[in-house]
Amino acid sequence: MANSISNSLRRIVVHNHKGGTGKTMIAVHLAEYLVEHGQKWQLLDADPQYNAISWLTGHAWDGEDALQLPGEGRREEMVVTIDSSVVAETPRVVVDTPPAGDALRRLHDAGLELGPEDLLVCPVSGRFGIDGAIKVAEEAAPSGCRIVALLNMTDPDDDHGSEEIKAVRELEGVEDLGIEVFKMAIPRNDDYLRRAELQGEPVWDIPYATSTHAVRALQAFCRWVAEGAPPEGNQMGSLASGSPNTESQRRVSELQDRLWG
Ligand SMILES: Nc1ncnc2c1ncn2[C@@H]1O[C@H](COP(=O)(O)OP(=O)(O)OP(=O)(O)O)[C@@H](O)[C@H]1O
Ligand SMILES: [Mg+2]
Repeated sequence: MANSISNSLRRIVVHNHKGGTGKTMIAVHLAEYLVEHGQKWQLLDADPQYNAISWLTGHAWDGEDALQLPGEGRREEMVVTIDSSVVAETPRVVVDTPPAGDALRRLHDAGLELGPEDLLVCPVSGRFGIDGAIKVAEEAAPSGCRIVALLNMTDPDDDHGSEEIKAVRELEGVEDLGIEVFKMAIPRNDDYLRRAELQGEPVWDIPYATSTHAVRALQAFCRWVAEGAPPEGNQMGSLASGSPNTESQRRVSELQDRLWG
């Protein structure tokens, strides 16, 4: 069980200077997963668009201080805040950031200084977002925090996976910047993610969504983080039970093979 493993992760900041790479999607699901698995985490929505709050509640933030998340289970134990001044006292926090060049500096000014124990998750969407990841890595380097790039919205219908392969090569080429790449890409899955966002729930609560590679890869990433992101746990794995039974799953497996096989 993820929650029985003690780990020293205290802060997870999801950031990329580039917009639309999946920061909010990742931040929301990480917070949901960690809380669902019995860990005590808060979610700081540090983006003035409050997209994370919209995702968690299913409607635009209307200025309320106290948010009660809909649904059942441990979800209601999640503390969601927009007030970055509280983070200094917060034991464990997932932060969603805006696509702004000064986002990390603002967090720092608010008392959230990243340190070697902390994790900076940088979603990269195709080739775009790599420049953002590199800038983020340069900016975060003095803090000594771990930087993990996560390929998101990969396109299994692109026969060559060319954008993604280029993305991974470029990231590997800048290893001296200390960027780790999570070895499971999250494919594009518009249908389920759009529904989850509109309904204000995590995507794995949508019926049948967990049969898709995108949702399994997202869960695998969240599980790895819940376990404290052990380096040896960052491995390409087979997510489908048995052999891929749809054309799209087959394409996804092939893409993963080309990326890391
Ligand atoms: N793997 C995916 N497949 C399909 N849609 C996705 C995927 N990941 C994210 N999305 C969708 O893409 C859109 C952009 O994602 P998201 O809002 O998380 O990006 P962001 O980096 O937070 O954007 P911004 O920079 O504006 O804050 C959202 O509608 C989200 O639901
Ligand atoms: Mg966002």
